[in-house]
Amino acid sequence: MKLKALIASGGRGTRLRPITHTQNKHLIPIANKPILHYAIEAAARAGIRDIGIVTNADSEEVPKAIGDGSNWGVKITYIPQDAPLGLAHVVKISEEFVGEDDFVFYLGDNMVVGGLDKYIDSFRASKANCYLTLAKVKDPERFGVPEIKDGMIVRVEEKPKQPKSSYAVAGIYFYDRHIFEAVNSIKPSVRGELEISDAHQYLIDHNYKIGYAEITGWWKDTGKPTDLLEANRLVLENTDPTIEPEVEVDTDSDVAGRVVLQKGCKIKNSKVRGPAIIGEGVVIENSYVGPFTSVGKGTHVLNSEVEYSIILKRCRIMDAGMRIEGSLLGNDVEIVRADGKPRVQRFMIGDQSRVEVA
Ligand code: DAU
Repeated sequence: MKLKALIASGGRGTRLRPITHTQNKHLIPIANKPILHYAIEAAARAGIRDIGIVTNADSEEVPKAIGDGSNWGVKITYIPQDAPLGLAHVVKISEEFVGEDDFVFYLGDNMVVGGLDKYIDSFRASKANCYLTLAKVKDPERFGVPEIKDGMIVRVEEKPKQPKSSYAVAGIYFYDRHIFEAVNSIKPSVRGELEISDAHQYLIDHNYKIGYAEITGWWKDTGKPTDLLEANRLVLENTDPTIEPEVEVDTDSDVAGRVVLQKGCKIKNSKVRGPAIIGEGVVIENSYVGPFTSVGKGTHVLNSEVEYSIILKRCRIMDAGMRIEGSLLGNDVEIVRADGKPRVQRFMIGDQSRVEVA
């Protein structure tokens, strides 16, 4: 039977404000590529050709940025969601798109290394109605958590105060059509959402077959800024060094380690230590760019030091004084030296920003 993919890219991304005031969270770049690309690529690589993407009904941002799928050799169908009413609601409104086929439901803010093929194979072999992927985590109370007895999932709880295991149900699920019976039967939770964990519990209670696999490589839910930095680190660590056309590195500069230099970037009298990616047309001058840093297209770094950070497009970091570390900068952000006396720190910062000063 054919396998389709359903990707969730709606919701409000409140934990990633202020970046998400102006940008859908799924379009935030990890290693200079929107998070959502990773989900589409994973599906395309697994041979899936029919992908449904659920988007916020009030915004054309995702369809505009992603297009019809021809870049990946797939067909993308957009499914608008009127409001973020829960992950089971995402599945519910996608029934027509899915039809009678089996499908993988992929949360667009999740990232997993190593592809989907092995999970697809074990889902097929298990003949399960629902096949979950589990990942060991330090903070299971943030996730859907399975209770496992004798190798069987006997319960799934959403964000439990007292987790029954140290596993999170990761945002990559495999289903046959019985999931629609579940999402059409459950009621909203106390937070007003149709919970995917309640749909799983429905299947367990109605004796449907639930299988699972443990994700042994890395998996990340990129809900919080620290998760984004960590995902960025993991992707950069697995990226091969590359030099694209028209790159200029002068003889006073030193570029070492896994570094991707994108088209037309210029490194002048600077040190770049990989893993890092320096975006198209970026200028790094008299500066240091340290490991696990992504610098977005058109950014200029002058007389400054940056490490373990994600910098979006067209930023200006000039004479920043102290090393910038563990930071996430949106588009068109400026960090410049305050001139004159007395020595001051001067801010012009949008709603819900966070600045840590020394
Ligand atoms: O990441 C795995 C976890 O994802 C699971 O362990 C949980 O059981 C599951 O409920 C979910 O928890 P989150 O709190 O992380 O879900 P979040 O609200 O962040 O939404 C996950 C993705 O789905 C995100 O890409 C936004 C999108 N979304 C979310 C909702 C509620 C939608 O497209 N529509 C929605 O209505």
